[in-house]
Amino acid sequence: MADDPGPLTSAPGAPLVSSIYTTDLGEMYRATVEDFLASEHARKLRGKVQLVFTSPPFPLLTPKAYGNKVGEEYLEWLRSLAPKLKRLLTPDGSIVIELGNAWERGHPVMSTLPLEALLAFRKAGKLFVNQQFICHNPARLPSPVQWVNIDRSRVKDSYTHVWWMSPTERPKADNRKVLVPYSASMKKLIASKKYNAGLRGSGFNIGETSFLTDHGGAIPPSVLSYANTQAGTPYRKYLKEHGYTPHPAPMQAKLVEFFVEFLTDPGDLVFDPFGGSNTTGAVAERLGRRWVATEPKMDYILGSQGHFAKFNPLAEPRTRKGEAPS
Ligand SMILES: C[S@@+](CC[C@H](N)C(=O)[O-])C[C@H]1O[C@@H](n2cnc3c(N)ncnc32)[C@H](O)[C@@H]1O
Repeated sequence: MADDPGPLTSAPGAPLVSSIYTTDLGEMYRATVEDFLASEHARKLRGKVQLVFTSPPFPLLTPKAYGNKVGEEYLEWLRSLAPKLKRLLTPDGSIVIELGNAWERGHPVMSTLPLEALLAFRKAGKLFVNQQFICHNPARLPSPVQWVNIDRSRVKDSYTHVWWMSPTERPKADNRKVLVPYSASMKKLIASKKYNAGLRGSGFNIGETSFLTDHGGAIPPSVLSYANTQAGTPYRKYLKEHGYTPHPAPMQAKLVEFFVEFLTDPGDLVFDPFGGSNTTGAVAERLGRRWVATEPKMDYILGSQGHFAKFNPLAEPRTRKGEAPS
């Protein structure tokens, strides 16, 4: 199995943007985001993307195999993408960016660069921040190792920032599409039809029937908690079988699912310019959304085919909903 997933730039003479595979609903390109956004392919997407959902390379302390920019250079780079990505959106489209934390090299302190980069992106794109989310990964291994495992002076860093932005204050969104199961006590309340109404210390005045209607589920919170484990999935089996490198930072499929369902309808177009192992495309396909993704590393691209039944007979078929994809 190759450890290095290949160079970030194409070989001399090779096209800067090439279509590597298609599925019923999507297309995966090999390209850097810069080359793709400057291409004819991106021009054709203008005004058509309902959701840009992406996790750019983080400004990490230790570079991952796929490389990452650091410091001011990172901020400038992320900022420069905002107007170009915004141009692709439908009038009520959204951009959702997931960005992890970064720590100062050699010091037990966090870098504010991820937040500064998100702010710079928002400003450069003249975007509204509709809502900030935290994505908690309870299965995350303890890190940064030096401060958490050895020095024991910090706790494990276990969440990422997820910023939902858009050019308008009212992008397409419907929280009824992402309801979560009621808690046991809420189910009891709905069944008993009895509620202790009245004024709370918090100032909320709870009406007689406020919580007694069954809406089919509860409105989810802005802290999302999903374990990121792929061990034993058909996708991992596909990688092993074909000798492809597992992606070092795949997104939680449930996170993609949440935003795709919340912010798009079947048939809408979802774009991930930092496709990696193409979790976004896989989830979009399974939920009946069209998708486009780009990724410069060929090994990740070829491996990502393992999410789709067209290439991997074990992969989950498109119509099944609600389960993590392969
Ligand atoms: C955090 S990962 C995305 C992971 C992805 N969401 C997944 O589920 O696998 C960032 C990806 O961006 C890619 N990348 C790095 N520089 C890039 C660039 N200039 N343009 C496009 N992609 C780039 C990396 O190869 C890496 O796969």
